[in-house]
Amino acid sequence: MELLPLLFLSFCFLTLSGLTFGAESASPVIVMEDDDVILPCSLSTNENIESMLFVWKKEGTVPRKEVFMYDAGTDSKGQDEEFKGRVSHFPEQLKHGNASIRINKTTLEDNGNYTCSFPIIQSSGKTFRIELVVGAAPQPSVTNLDQTNDWALLQCDVQGAYPKPTVEWWNSNNQTIPSEEPQVSKNGERFYVTLKATVRKIDRYRCVATQKEIHHQIYKEINVHLNGAAPKPYVTMLETKGQLECEVLGASPKPTVEWWDNNNKTLHSKMLQYKEEHGLSYITIQTTVTKPGCYRCVATQMDIGHQIPSSKICVHDVTRSGTGMTRAALVSVIFGIVGILASV
Ligand SMILES: *[C@@H]1O[C@H](CO)[C@@H](O)[C@H](O)[C@H]1NC(C)=O
Ligand SMILES: *[C@@H]1O[C@H](CO)[C@@H](O)[C@H](O)[C@H]1NC(C)=O
Ligand SMILES: *[C@@H]1O[C@H](CO)[C@@H](O)[C@H](O)[C@H]1NC(C)=O
Ligand SMILES: *[C@@H]1O[C@H](CO)[C@@H](O)[C@H](O)[C@H]1NC(C)=O
Ligand SMILES: *[C@@H]1O[C@H](CO)[C@@H](O)[C@H](O)[C@H]1NC(C)=O
Repeated sequence: MELLPLLFLSFCFLTLSGLTFGAESASPVIVMEDDDVILPCSLSTNENIESMLFVWKKEGTVPRKEVFMYDAGTDSKGQDEEFKGRVSHFPEQLKHGNASIRINKTTLEDNGNYTCSFPIIQSSGKTFRIELVVGAAPQPSVTNLDQTNDWALLQCDVQGAYPKPTVEWWNSNNQTIPSEEPQVSKNGERFYVTLKATVRKIDRYRCVATQKEIHHQIYKEINVHLNGAAPKPYVTMLETKGQLECEVLGASPKPTVEWWDNNNKTLHSKMLQYKEEHGLSYITIQTTVTKPGCYRCVATQMDIGHQIPSSKICVHDVTRSGTGMTRAALVSVIFGIVGILASV
């Protein structure tokens, strides 16, 4: 018995309005900036509207901006600059009462409420609204600002998002970790958020930006190696006979890196590269061995009692100057001989 008034009510509503949206819910249409979007509007009667008038407007200004007008096939003269060349309707859909439009290359300025109306058949004066939400969701960028053996200070930047994102640092179990108060600024419609967190564990951390309104989540990860213990040195034999290279990539505190012979005697070597990045040292050294044998490169961090050797690298074929003669010495010997010959 209670169903009857309800049915009657909805009957009244439908006949008075004569209009419903394709999806009868009032949920907004969501699109990411630069993408194209369809704003739906259909007559529930499905009657042919090829020879009718319908107008799309955008709310928020007085007078409201004209987005698109269809007047039995003639072009609109009042279309707002903002929408010129970007809006089209679906001619083949008109005979089914479909007055939907397509807006190309949406921008954040397109955010807002739009109305679709049929001024002639619409007796009630009620217009139909749809909310368009245009989102911008740039990927966060993450940096390790500073670190010691015990902690690392991570920073996440989200540049130019809309709507305002919630930014969080997560650990690899997807748990939110404590962080500082986010710094938020705004430029035009866009939000800029910076979030710092101090972490004390070796882990893969993730900065997550969430925009509930547009059902969007995006993240960027960063690995933190806290203890800084030097990794196993990486050794290679170079093309020049007897030349060996050793790399230690990422250690804190700064290690001593040396080439050792079979008797653990340190060989003379030269530093090819030294750099520090995010508190970690990157070291490359080179040595020239003059005797066949097996050698190792060793990284030592006295402060943390850590020493790690490379795997052995064995050299069978060394430079001809078996006495450890340098090229310069060899050259002077040759010139000496030439000098002696010339003087004869
Ligand atoms: C109206 O036309 C558009 C474009 O072809 C389509 O996406 C939409 O589903 C149509 N609406 C209805 C109610 O058929
Ligand atoms: C919108 O883009 C689609 C495909 O990207 C294109 O077919 C259509 O002509 C464009 N509409 C306008 C009004 O430029
Ligand atoms: C669109 O309309 C809804 C209410 O229907 C309102 O909450 C919202 O703020 C409006 N959006 C804009 C951008 O004006
Ligand atoms: C964390 O979430 C991501 C998806 O965002 C998922 O792929 C991953 O398996 C989750 N990790 C854990 C430990 O739950
Ligand atoms: C060289 O040092 C290693 C440890 O790094 C040790 O195991 C080995 O016995 C030493 N060899 C000699 C000849 O002292």
